[in-house]
Amino acid sequence: MTTWPTGVRGLAWGADHNPEQWPESVWAEDVALMRRAGVNLVSVGIFSWALIEVEEGRYEFGWLDRALDRLHEGGVRVDLATATASPPPWLTTAYPEVLPETAGGVRLSHGSRQSYCPSSGVYREKAVALARALAERYREHPALAAWHVGNEYGCHVSRCFCDRCAVAFRAWLRARYGDLEPLNEAWGTAFWSQRYGSWEQVLPPRATPSLGNPGQLLDFDRFSSDALLELFTAERDVLREVTPGVPVTTNFMVTWTFGALDYWRWAAEVDFVSNDHYTRAEDPERHVELAFSADLVRGLAGGRPWLLMEHSTSAVNWQRRNLAKEPGELRRNSFQHVARGADGTLFFQWRQSRAGAERYHSAMVPHAGPDTRVFREVERVGAEYARLAELVGSTVEASVALVYDWQSRWALGQPAHPTADFSYQDHALALYRALWRAGVTVDFVPPGADLSGYAAAVLPALYLVDDATPYERYVEGGGRLLVTYLSGITDGRGHVHLGGYPGAFRELLGVRTEEFHPLGEGAAVALDDGSTARVWTEDLRTEGAEVLASYADGPLAGVPAVTRNDRGDGAAWYLACGLTGDGLDRLVRGVLAHAGVPRGPEGVEVVRRRGERAGAPVSWLVAVNHGGGDAELPAAGVELLSGERVTGRVVVPAGGVVVVRGEV
Ligand code: GLA
Ligand code: ZN
Repeated sequence: MTTWPTGVRGLAWGADHNPEQWPESVWAEDVALMRRAGVNLVSVGIFSWALIEVEEGRYEFGWLDRALDRLHEGGVRVDLATATASPPPWLTTAYPEVLPETAGGVRLSHGSRQSYCPSSGVYREKAVALARALAERYREHPALAAWHVGNEYGCHVSRCFCDRCAVAFRAWLRARYGDLEPLNEAWGTAFWSQRYGSWEQVLPPRATPSLGNPGQLLDFDRFSSDALLELFTAERDVLREVTPGVPVTTNFMVTWTFGALDYWRWAAEVDFVSNDHYTRAEDPERHVELAFSADLVRGLAGGRPWLLMEHSTSAVNWQRRNLAKEPGELRRNSFQHVARGADGTLFFQWRQSRAGAERYHSAMVPHAGPDTRVFREVERVGAEYARLAELVGSTVEASVALVYDWQSRWALGQPAHPTADFSYQDHALALYRALWRAGVTVDFVPPGADLSGYAAAVLPALYLVDDATPYERYVEGGGRLLVTYLSGITDGRGHVHLGGYPGAFRELLGVRTEEFHPLGEGAAVALDDGSTARVWTEDLRTEGAEVLASYADGPLAGVPAVTRNDRGDGAAWYLACGLTGDGLDRLVRGVLAHAGVPRGPEGVEVVRRRGERAGAPVSWLVAVNHGGGDAELPAAGVELLSGERVTGRVVVPAGGVVVVRGEV
């Protein structure tokens, strides 16, 4: 199996390229500028269904032939889209069943993008036919490096509630439960008179007078992720059949608000993992959220290299304020992804659109043209990437694991939980941020993964847990495990484990909580070690664990807030409250020290990639300085961007990056 875009030399560098938005007279300049910028890979045709299949069954490939030929002549490889991300108006007009429906029964119209229902047989049939037509047309095209199926599945329409989805949901539930009785049991339908007597009565979780059923909501999330995945695999299978040597991917979006797909399941189906990431311009710590995303993508890729399919050179038009990136920021962002295992980074998009909804989204070539700061920075990074070809195929070293679970994220995102102030993603990010500040590289792993290779592991709000045995084994074998509140509360169906919280982890942690005590809006509680908790506390008592900190004030004064339970050769910490800032840093550093994990340097982001060069093991230290002052690091070898020898120490300039190849 081919697991990387073919024929790309060195790190991949480029963008989404939408030549169909421009007269052909612009295309020659495009390719000339791509050469100047060192571009070697572009994604073509993602939103061009309406211009390829101009009416049902009538294809016009001429423009695409010419665009691909021109790119090939310029030495640019092509990640060719199957163009199925946005069905054209002729399709949705002729077959309105293709259009998705909201929970409230509103049918969404064409005129934007992604206006399709995942269960529409017509959409699937037409999409697969288009993928086949493209594969047959371009199977021998010398520019073809990879297939880009759809685009950001589930980005806008991740859940459809139409009648066709009702039928598909029932089929999915039948496969899961066999019979109605286990479904009634799993969903707890004895509550509020929800018992189902026949399959026809079972519906997607449409708009209801009051709170929906948690089991139904959770299963609908699972179903919806699987339904979209089936669309991807239907196209992929055709591509594999027609062009067996060409790898197939689709671009994930692993962080932030989306979270609609269980990417652990998706990652198993792509030939290489690719991801889109956009920093939130108003977040002063956006580079840390970027690192989180990059590490999570590497986890999905199973540690193998992955591709950043999209990020931005500067402003992002869908944010409320289109803040421009700082000078040097696109460069730092690009190197952060490479540091964390990307073997290439592409942008959305090549040339900034002059029409359409994304006119004010930045690109490699801005409206103002190539005589701009953005294009010069793009040229600079392109030239630097050319010096880093030796990194390709190397892997990233990490000593700490973080267990990430989209299904717990879905479950905790449902209404009627103990507090509306809790967000799974923010919580996981807060834990990650403490690890980042400690200079530790983190591997993300799925629930139940083997943790034995990691000195320490963190479980942020792992809510849905059938069985804690893998974690007990890990700790007994010497692992250091930090478990946070809202972990182990329910089984996989969402039924609460009885006898006290945190249910499945009670024994391992040696604690028992009688009652949750979430805090009021903006409220804070002091701990006796000087730290502060917000959002969450609980009335806990120890059953064997050692108390590390207790509440110093409030209704739970004297009650344990942070505990540790030594067990076997390891130890398990329980964080029972929403510890903030410094307090969380101290706790995480305590766990790392206990596990013997060395801390990285302060203030500079440092990641090590390992691989081989000329048959000998080497490593590359990639350092990114997000601060305003120069920083110094211990290092020895060659700094690849400058070509200078490094003996003992290397300076990472303020806002800059270095890549040092060393012998170990
Ligand atoms: C997503 C899409 C792109 C574009 C960018 C803009 O990532 O895949 O087509 O809309 O957002 O940020
Ligand atoms: Zn539907």
